[in-house]
Amino acid sequence: MEVFPELTRDVIDRMSDAKSARLQKVMEVVIRHLHAIVREAEITQGEWWQAIDFLTRAGKMCSESRQELILLSDILGVSMLVDAVDNAAGPGVSDSTVLGPFYAGHQRELAQGDSILLREESSEPLVMSGRVTDPEGQPVGDALIEVWQTAPNQLYDVQDRDQPQGHLRASFRTDIAGSYRFRTIMPVSYPIPDDGPAGQLLAAMGRHPFRPAHIHFMISAPGYRTLITHLFFEGDEFLESDAVFGVKASLVVRPELKRRVNTVEYNFGLARELYLGSARPPSFVAANNKSSPQSS
Ligand code: BEZ
Ligand code: FE
Repeated sequence: MEVFPELTRDVIDRMSDAKSARLQKVMEVVIRHLHAIVREAEITQGEWWQAIDFLTRAGKMCSESRQELILLSDILGVSMLVDAVDNAAGPGVSDSTVLGPFYAGHQRELAQGDSILLREESSEPLVMSGRVTDPEGQPVGDALIEVWQTAPNQLYDVQDRDQPQGHLRASFRTDIAGSYRFRTIMPVSYPIPDDGPAGQLLAAMGRHPFRPAHIHFMISAPGYRTLITHLFFEGDEFLESDAVFGVKASLVVRPELKRRVNTVEYNFGLARELYLGSARPPSFVAANNKSSPQSS
């Protein structure tokens, strides 16, 4: 028999003057599920204190350069579930995946074929090219393509004081044929920041913190839904166990050697924007990553 069912009813019923029907609906579901967790897992007072302490520490860890709550959402699969619920790819539309905490806002715009490196790296070079198209396969010209990836030391520029700011990240515009092309290096797998509560939880759950090597893409154009995605690389040992569940088969590529250089050609399909809203991250995400680098 359910413990204290009238409490759940009472908490829900007291929202009858809620200011927004959507908020009321979402909060009703949240309350029902939170209460169900307590009943089903028979949460003790001590465990409740542990949960409060965990959330308090996660909140306190958030700063200009660290978003522990997004990390928590990522490792629990919540970010990918929101992505699946809100971003159904269809014919001619590319799959999306998590944004992650290392998007750093709009970067210097480079010309077709330019390199996104700001210093030399000893990794293997990689040439990325392809087209951006609409759901019918027609070119989307002047689309903004933003890319970012880690350096060979497994750190993004925003995590590493030794990298020039903007190293391995850049923006490009597609040409009239929807084409893009840039030069970079083969990315490496890396651990997500695991020195905080999210990392402690990962370890307690018996999981590793690694993500398979990838390059992030955010592609936007007026009239189209912003596509937030990555490309992963065939053969990576973490493809099946990405710490944030971000891998989709359609996003795994196999570089081909062309003139002895690893080359990937990948076409992105954008969905039409059907409502006035945007999947672009709020400005606080970019702002978070612009200031003092973190060392995690
Ligand atoms: C990333 O790919 O940058 C990332 C995504 C989720 C959590 C941490 C990092
Ligand atoms: Fe990443």
